[in-house]
Amino acid sequence: MSSQAPTEPSSTSGVGSQDPVGRSIPDFPVPAPLTSHGPGRIIAMCNQKGGVGKTTTTINLGAALAEYGRKVLVVDFDPQGAASVGLGVSPHELDVTVYNLLMERSASVTDVLCKTRVENLDLLPANIDLSAAEVQLVGEVARESVLSRVLRPVVDDYDVILVDCQPSLGLLTVNALTAAHGVMIPLACEFFALRGVALLVETIEKVRDRLNPRLEVDGILATMYDPRTLHSREVITRVHEAFGDTLLHTVIGRTVKFPDSSIAAEPITTYAPTHSGAAAYRQLARELVARGDAA
Ligand SMILES: Nc1ncnc2c1ncn2[C@@H]1O[C@H](COP(=O)(O)OP(=O)(O)OP(=O)(O)O)[C@@H](O)[C@H]1O
Ligand SMILES: [Mg+2]
Repeated sequence: MSSQAPTEPSSTSGVGSQDPVGRSIPDFPVPAPLTSHGPGRIIAMCNQKGGVGKTTTTINLGAALAEYGRKVLVVDFDPQGAASVGLGVSPHELDVTVYNLLMERSASVTDVLCKTRVENLDLLPANIDLSAAEVQLVGEVARESVLSRVLRPVVDDYDVILVDCQPSLGLLTVNALTAAHGVMIPLACEFFALRGVALLVETIEKVRDRLNPRLEVDGILATMYDPRTLHSREVITRVHEAFGDTLLHTVIGRTVKFPDSSIAAEPITTYAPTHSGAAAYRQLARELVARGDAA
């Protein structure tokens, strides 16, 4: 598929190789084309720790699934609007965003949907307005299910809906978990990577018990992995000891191409299509389809 940089983690080098914790990587075949679309499986990208790769994963996993012919909707659910900016939409110029959908029953999701430059990849953008929703939703009836209601009219139009959460376990994130079928947890291979994960898992379990019995943990994704450092290898080993096969085989290496592609407001799959980072997100897309977590 793509050229491999010499420092690439073994997990992206294809069939027969081992992942960084020594498990052999199964063949993740290229998904068969779909003849029809939907209903969408909703995946919340969630970790209350900041800067772990939630937005990068949302954008690039979404773009990789779209390349495989899946119809993908990205829901920007962070007032920072990074997923919107990263997909080439300037959310600060928009009059209507996901905030209006949450707060105004008359707002229509089709008025807020944006096409992106990536075929098959649409966006519900967010901007700083969304920061008010956390407080305003508190007084709503069924305040945890508002995103679920918002997505209902479009869920059948997509194969996968990725919700990019903000770094918090507040009411917006609880809304994402209540709407979702699955949650993916990106973890950066850095000091204190595991700090807070117990609290996140506890929150996921509470949401499953009280609000959304179908919620599953789809996987933990190791990001910013640098195979040259002992530290990165130690962190990923600890994650595997703690969570077993919830740790996905696919590992995302650390590379400056990710911030570069954010600045270019494009997924890495179009900004640097032959780079190992693009190959890694394509492998993640194939792994999810193979696990049954995406169509
Ligand atoms: N694999 C990677 N290698 C190098 N840099 C990365 C990688 N993944 C993400 N980054 C960079 O790290 C920064 C944080 O990533 P990102 O915005 O995806 O994290 P986040 O979890 O969404 O953060 P926040 O919690 O603030 O929403 C960004 O500048 C991004 O470009
Ligand atoms: Mg983010």
